[in-house]
Amino acid sequence: MRSWAIIIPTKILKRCFFSKQIACLIFDVNIYPYSHRNCQNWDFTTLLLKKTLDMFVQNNQNILEIGTGHLAILSIYIAKKKKANITAVDINPEFIKNAVVNAEKNDVYIDFRQSDLFSNIEGTFDIIYFNPPYVPTEWVFKNNRELYSNSIFDFTWNGGPDGCDTIRKFLKDVKCFTHKDSKVLLGVNSVFVDRYKMSMLIAAAGLTLDSIISSKCNPAKVYVIKLEKY
Ligand SMILES: C[S@@+](CC[C@H](N)C(=O)[O-])C[C@H]1O[C@@H](n2cnc3c(N)ncnc32)[C@H](O)[C@@H]1O
Repeated sequence: MRSWAIIIPTKILKRCFFSKQIACLIFDVNIYPYSHRNCQNWDFTTLLLKKTLDMFVQNNQNILEIGTGHLAILSIYIAKKKKANITAVDINPEFIKNAVVNAEKNDVYIDFRQSDLFSNIEGTFDIIYFNPPYVPTEWVFKNNRELYSNSIFDFTWNGGPDGCDTIRKFLKDVKCFTHKDSKVLLGVNSVFVDRYKMSMLIAAAGLTLDSIISSKCNPAKVYVIKLEKY
């Protein structure tokens, strides 16, 4: 039986993740409303990526966000703080439509594109970051079945049988869009895919794990990845 000690914080957390006011307060981004049960405004990984972007992004860099989401909350956050050239993509065309409006509401310019990972991307970038879908399909079936819709919206969370389908594809292709000083920032919640598994995936793709960014009370980790080819 689940105890109240677990149920209450989960409910409070959900409220935080879906609250426009809290998102606005943390990320300094105005939130254009979008209603879909899969679409919370942010999660633990978004929060840690924000901290990591503060550490790595500099003015005038070329930046690419994969999986920007319906709000493009991280790309808008960076666009407001830095003079960077930001391209942001998502596989879900509905998300891109909403992200374009959200960027206008926040008075920033971002080059938005619908793209399955790098399929609609050319060139190289100084920083590439991604908060990918990493939840194993089975986990949602057991714990949160109403999230499963058998549609493009499942890409928001569904990482396949072991949570790593999209992570593997991303790591395989990312090399073609980097130069020798690029940094790849991949945020993953370690409740679903742990540090050991991530190290194995990064090594298997021929990449080098430079460092891991973490934060107290946050189960997410951001893997800072370098390229071995140079
Ligand atoms: C966990 S959400 C992250 C949303 C937002 N960036 C954030 O950090 O809160 C994952 C996002 O990746 C997108 N996505 C999943 N697979 C993708 C793919 N193959 N190519 C591009 N975007 C993808 C989903 O549609 C979703 O918007």
